[in-house]
Amino acid sequence: MKKSNNKAAAEAITVNRRRLLNNDAPFAMKEAYVKLRTSLMFCMTADKARPCKTFAVTSAKPSEGKSLTAANIAISYAMLGKRVLLVDADMRKPTQRRLWKVELSTGLCDYLAKIWQLELAKVTELPLWIVCTGTIPPNPSELLSSDRMKSFVESCADYYDYVIIDTPPINTVADAQIISTFVDGVVLVARSGNTTADELNAATAAVRRAGGNLCGVVLNGLNMKSVKYASKYKYGDKYGYRYSYSESYGAK
Ligand SMILES: Nc1ncnc2c1ncn2[C@@H]1O[C@H](COP(=O)(O)OP(=O)(O)OP(=O)(O)O)[C@@H](O)[C@H]1O
Ligand SMILES: [Mg+2]
Repeated sequence: MKKSNNKAAAEAITVNRRRLLNNDAPFAMKEAYVKLRTSLMFCMTADKARPCKTFAVTSAKPSEGKSLTAANIAISYAMLGKRVLLVDADMRKPTQRRLWKVELSTGLCDYLAKIWQLELAKVTELPLWIVCTGTIPPNPSELLSSDRMKSFVESCADYYDYVIIDTPPINTVADAQIISTFVDGVVLVARSGNTTADELNAATAAVRRAGGNLCGVVLNGLNMKSVKYASKYKYGDKYGYRYSYSESYGAK
């Protein structure tokens, strides 16, 4: 039983890795991320002083595609030759380490708790570095609200062109709200056919309550063949851009 569970988990990781953006990805997928990247490049900080460099990626609830979207936003910037840091700040359900097969066992938590120095992984040819979650603490929210976390993001912004932070669902725990207070912009992911309007409204309200700069909503997994459905979907129009990538579209 345990063996078959392990096999299923390994297969799931392989499938997820195939969903990472690359040069051989289907045209529609690449196009969707180019559009998303371009939209984000035009996003200004809350005081309109400069374009956003640091982004938190969150969503209303679990499994809406935050981690995959964060990873693919990071890849799409790196494909432009930009220096990108992808930070896994989801201490509830770390994903990036498995997604990228990173060997490091330490990460953000160890650094914030002053247990270990910050370790970065470079897992592709692209100018993209990854910080994993590391040793999960009993008090993620406290660590994330520390001055050390704030100055970590600030110093990363000095060194990298873009910093993309993967976070837990904002309607479930406070972590993404905390992070949204010190990043330039917040990207919300909504999953087509899954996220309800009420859930999305609650998520946008949570970002605003925290004083976060909501850059837009990514509509993930939209069935592009379903034009009728697409035209009914209001999220993209309301918040400035619409991105969608669906598996069915991915078939070559
Ligand atoms: N557009 C998509 N098409 C197909 N599968 C997708 C898509 N987006 C995400 N998935 C899959 O859905 C699952 C959940 O995605 P992901 O881990 O990115 O979500 P999450 O919001 O980060 O979840 P959690 O809240 O648990 O951290 C993964 O198996 C991922 O590969
Ligand atoms: Mg995740």
